[in-house]
Order: sequence, then structure tokens, then C-alpha cells
Amino acid sequence: MRSKLVAGNWKMNGNLASNQALLKSLIPLLKPLATARAAVCVPYPYIAQTEHVLRGSGIAWGAQDASEHEHGAYTGEVSAGMLADFGCRYVIVGHSERRALFGDTNEIVAQKYAAVLKAGLTPILCVGETLAERESGVMEQVIARQVEAVMAQSGATSLERAVVAYEPVWAIGTGKTATPDEAQAVHAFIRSRVAEQDICVADLLTILYGGSVKAANAPALFAMPDIDGGLIGGAALVAEEFAAICSAAN
Ligand code: 13P
Repeated sequence: MRSKLVAGNWKMNGNLASNQALLKSLIPLLKPLATARAAVCVPYPYIAQTEHVLRGSGIAWGAQDASEHEHGAYTGEVSAGMLADFGCRYVIVGHSERRALFGDTNEIVAQKYAAVLKAGLTPILCVGETLAERESGVMEQVIARQVEAVMAQSGATSLERAVVAYEPVWAIGTGKTATPDEAQAVHAFIRSRVAEQDICVADLLTILYGGSVKAANAPALFAMPDIDGGLIGGAALVAEEFAAICSAAN
């Protein structure tokens, strides 16, 4: 039985004052959650603040990326071990914005995923196709390669300690969501590719949907059999909206 997870990806938003207000309002709003898990992935400088406010609340926190390296001369980078020092549980790896804007290839993403696991944290591996890839019929190939790069590096059993997020690039920040059926089809495809290597791991794997999830469309998405929650961008910045999405998963 898979329990649902809703994770907020704040991206590069917020400041000390607005974060404080958002985090403080989330605590009472998310208190009633019984079965669903909730988490926020915040910008690096605010992880300590988030830890301070959320510790003991039942809401987990994490980061949006991590270096593939453990330590050393990598100016500007942050290691997964450093994130563990601040109580992070989750680290997003391979978000499409990092793949598109910062050169994160499947190989680099697989290395980052391995580094996160090595630090004892849970990677949230993002996969997803662009509109051009979907329309030209290579969507499944693209997604299979993204998932298989990680299985080749760390083994299929590593997914036992990970989360996958399917985020169609064309649905991110566009207000255009995949329909529940479109998303379900890709989630089932991802699960089947993992099942080819390890059926038990595939069965237990948490697969989130991300891309313009709102309180209004979350219930229909989360009702699909292979959708185990969401990775939420814009709507995670509004406490009531994020809380309503979490309730839909509960
Ligand atoms: P939006 O919910 O703003 O579309 O962003 C989705 C996303 O990229 C989460 O990682």
C-alpha cells in the first residue's frame, strides 16, 4: 500500500519574512493530515529557517538540487551531506528547469541521485517530456531513458528509497495540466519500466504528478491508481491552496 506524498517546490521564490508567514500558516493547516505526507523543497539559504520552523511539525523539508560530488573544489555547489546536516529529507534531482537551463544531463542527474541516496536522503527524481517530444511520438523513449539512467547507475532496488515525479514540461507553470488519464498512462508506463527490473520495487514506488496542480484539479489526478501525490510549484506558495492539495491526497 502506497501512502500519498505532496511536495512543494518553491523554486527561486520567497524571502525570510514571506517564508516565515507561509511556513507558520502551513503547520496548523496540515495538522489534520492523517495518511498523506507533506514536504516543502525550499531555496538553499532558507533551509535552516525551514528546519527551525517545521521541526516537530510532521511536515518534512528538502532542497531543489544537490551536487553530484561529496565535497571539494566545486565553487557554488552544495552537497547532499550538507543538506542532511539541516534535517532535509527530500532532494529534487533532474527538474526540467535544471535539465533545460543548467545542463543537467541524464548522466549528471543519475550521479546526483546517487549522491543524495548516499547521504541518506530521498531523491525526488523528475522526469518528463517536452511538447515537441510528445507530439513527435518519442515521449516514452525520453521518459524511459530518464528513469533507466538512474537504474543503470544505482540499480532498480535504489528506487525503494526514492520518489519519481512525472512532470510534463508543457504543463509546468503554464496552467495547462495533463488530464488525469494522460498522467495515469505515463505513470503506469514508468511503473511498468521499473517492474521489468523489479516488480516489488515498482509496486511500492511513489510516483508524483507535477505541472499546474491546483486545489481544483488535484482530487481527480490523485484518484488515479498510479498517481501517488503531487509535486507542486506555484500553488505551493499559497498556504491555503497547498493545504487543500494536501487534503485531496489524504
Ligand atoms: P507548477 O505547479 O507551477 O506548474 O510547477 C510544477 C513544478 O515544476 C514542480 O516542480
